[in-house]
Amino acid sequence: MKSQVQMFPEAGTVKQSAGSATVKILPPADVLDTLKASDPVAAVILDPWYNRGVGGSRPDYHEWLSTVIDAASKIAEHVFVWGFPEILAYQIPQLPAGFRLMSWLTWYYKNCPSVIRGWRPAQNTCLHLAKDDASVYPEHFLNDEQLGRWQSGKMRFVPGPPTVIEAPLNIGFVRRNEQTGHPAQKPLAVIKPLILMSTTELDTVLDPMCGSGTTGVACQQLKRNAILCDSSQEYLTIAQDRIAPGVNQPNER
Ligand SMILES: C[S@@+](CC[C@H](N)C(=O)[O-])C[C@H]1O[C@@H](n2cnc3c(N)ncnc32)[C@H](O)[C@@H]1O
Repeated sequence: MKSQVQMFPEAGTVKQSAGSATVKILPPADVLDTLKASDPVAAVILDPWYNRGVGGSRPDYHEWLSTVIDAASKIAEHVFVWGFPEILAYQIPQLPAGFRLMSWLTWYYKNCPSVIRGWRPAQNTCLHLAKDDASVYPEHFLNDEQLGRWQSGKMRFVPGPPTVIEAPLNIGFVRRNEQTGHPAQKPLAVIKPLILMSTTELDTVLDPMCGSGTTGVACQQLKRNAILCDSSQEYLTIAQDRIAPGVNQPNER
């Protein structure tokens, strides 16, 4: 299946696509405007600045993030939220009505350079929030033999993926062909499991703070539709160049 990239010149326009998998890149906009203008999608991935380090901090971060999660919950049955664990923990007591914490995912990386004299960060969290009746697809992680057993009803338990994703940061020589220059680019290896668990082919994933467009590349490779936006034109240009049709993307899970 071929995927296409579309740029939308009109600010605030969010459209659904049909047919073959499509990556739509919207003009720069604030995350809340994108979410409020969006039609329903299968999943929303929220990867904001983290309230420490790159991107700086804001005094109302917890309230702001809660508002963003709430807006995402109005249009999707799965909402994924990235951040540092001690910061995301504040969100757990105030999840949107009808949503639950389906999983606390940990991204574990060993290759973080230490810039301070103290504990060296080696983890990031992704909260998988979902409606109570949301569909999940652990079968997407089965190998062919397991899939055969599952399809013939011979598998008593479907072994889903572990809640710890071990993948190095994209820094130095690690995954040089994936690096775009965005200061907080996620590896494809940590975005793909979210999409596989929550969607099927041609479902649509919205990433309103897409940075370098990792979600778009992951969707292209997994044959899902993607809608991308960011407040920065500079980063949207990176995403656009990265997702251009015909460009070979490293295809690993
Ligand atoms: C951690 S980065 C996302 C990285 C991305 N997942 C990737 O793999 O490249 C956070 C992004 O959120 C964007 N952002 C921050 N605040 C925003 C806002 N209020 N509205 C839209 N985008 C925002 C930033 O411009 C930045 O690109």
